[in-house]
Amino acid sequence: MKVAPSVLSADFGNLQRDIEEICSAGCDLVHVDVMDGHFVPNLTIGPVVVSAIAKAATKPLDIHLMVQNNTFFVELFAPLKPEYISFHIEEEKHPHRLIQKIRSLGIKPAIVLNPHTPPESIEFLLADLDMVLLMSVNPGFGGQSFIDSVIPKAKRLSAMRDTINPNCLIEVDGGVSDKNIQALKDVGVDIVVAGSYVFNHTDKKQAIQSLQI
Ligand code: DX5
Ligand code: ZN
Repeated sequence: MKVAPSVLSADFGNLQRDIEEICSAGCDLVHVDVMDGHFVPNLTIGPVVVSAIAKAATKPLDIHLMVQNNTFFVELFAPLKPEYISFHIEEEKHPHRLIQKIRSLGIKPAIVLNPHTPPESIEFLLADLDMVLLMSVNPGFGGQSFIDSVIPKAKRLSAMRDTINPNCLIEVDGGVSDKNIQALKDVGVDIVVAGSYVFNHTDKKQAIQSLQI
């Protein structure tokens, strides 16, 4: 299991220190939550802060867009060369076109599904994706409780990807901890995002390693 700590739970007064700490503690990706105050009722960071994160990080960035105008934000963040950019299927009229655009910029495209969105909604996009991100909380805030229905949903998605695109990874985001990591692994999840679990831990390295099962 790969681990992508969510910077949303970092100490923004000591952002460089926290990014360096999770990278040297052995995280696999750095998860960056971009919220616009419209798609979700919270507002986070833009290109100035994300480029500071990119500069401090020695691991690839995983940018999670929670915004209304996906294409605008993809163009804004593409120069930072993240590994992944993921966008919400609920907020995109032309997801197939946007996937091609992200790929043409040299970035791996990913789609995010909110807790209510079935995996079948992306059946005909799966062949073109590098990753699907399943929300296990409602997007907008760190520190929420894990929604258990993501487990059978990940199991269904995992069966779909095995037939359609075995190279497509499955990531889960929200309320992840040592309490649910085994259940996520058992249904075929490849990467977990963890915000409060990692950053509230006194020993971040130990927290990250407890999820890398
Ligand atoms: C929520 C974000 C998550 C969040 C996870 O909208 O997408 O990445 O920061 O935080 P925890 O792990 O605390 O639920
Ligand atoms: Zn996220």
